[in-house]
Amino acid sequence: MVLHTGWWKSTLRAMSDVMIETVNLHRGYRIGEKTIEVLHGIDLRIDRGERVFLCGPSGAGKTTLLYTLAGLERPEQGAVRIGGVDLYAMSRKQQARFRNLQIGYVFQNFHLLPELTALENVAVPGAIAGRDSTAAACRALERVGLAERGDHLPAELSGGEQQRVAIARAIVNEPKVLFADEPTGNLDSRNSSEIMKILLDLATEHGVTLVVVTHDQQLAKVGDRTLVIRDGSIHPEE
Ligand SMILES: Nc1ncnc2c1ncn2[C@@H]1O[C@H](COP(=O)(O)OP(=O)(O)OP(=O)(O)O)[C@@H](O)[C@H]1O
Ligand SMILES: [Mg+2]
Repeated sequence: MVLHTGWWKSTLRAMSDVMIETVNLHRGYRIGEKTIEVLHGIDLRIDRGERVFLCGPSGAGKTTLLYTLAGLERPEQGAVRIGGVDLYAMSRKQQARFRNLQIGYVFQNFHLLPELTALENVAVPGAIAGRDSTAAACRALERVGLAERGDHLPAELSGGEQQRVAIARAIVNEPKVLFADEPTGNLDSRNSSEIMKILLDLATEHGVTLVVVTHDQQLAKVGDRTLVIRDGSIHPEE
């Protein structure tokens, strides 16, 4: 029997069950004459269901890396594969649909729509997917312990509650991958532990692959692996 190389490659990938893979990822910003190299050839492999924490100093490129992994910021060079699918090789329309259904993203500053209620905010990704999303949005709010706050506008919620609404919105379409950028950044320790438990439970109970940015190396210890980004490269925890 003659086995095609492509067959071997795809079989090996399935066996190792890599969920997120980057190859030689480069990303920089140009301000006038100056270029800042933020990601400098990053090679990363994260397994399905793995819970990875990403640490590093302010300005090191944590948000830039997360954006690039989630299909929100095209790298200048390199590839990002989610479940074997090359994110930046798709058309914009295909990519938007893939993101909507497969990827959840909790933004560093929540990014809730101020004129929509908590429930309406959570329903947005479902509506984009063409689903009747109110029931799913209610379930997601319940999951983060905010069933009673559905009618509140973001301005009528505390920081921790807004963060939980942002998580509910990120999980409403039951994504396979969840990125969370400093989800406990402005919270006290009790709220931080609660938010972290919600995220970890998602990974444990639903096999969601989790990548969480945090400044708090202590908090990061609950994950399977901690990566540190410094000088444009990824290092294992020191
Ligand atoms: N749109 C942009 N234009 C120009 N420079 C940018 C842009 N976004 C980020 N940068 C620069 O890229 C670098 C990395 O920024 P990034 O937001 O990824 O850092 P970070 O590790 O998330 O920091 P923090 O912990 O403060 O959130 C910083 O030096 C920042 O000034
Ligand atoms: Mg950031």
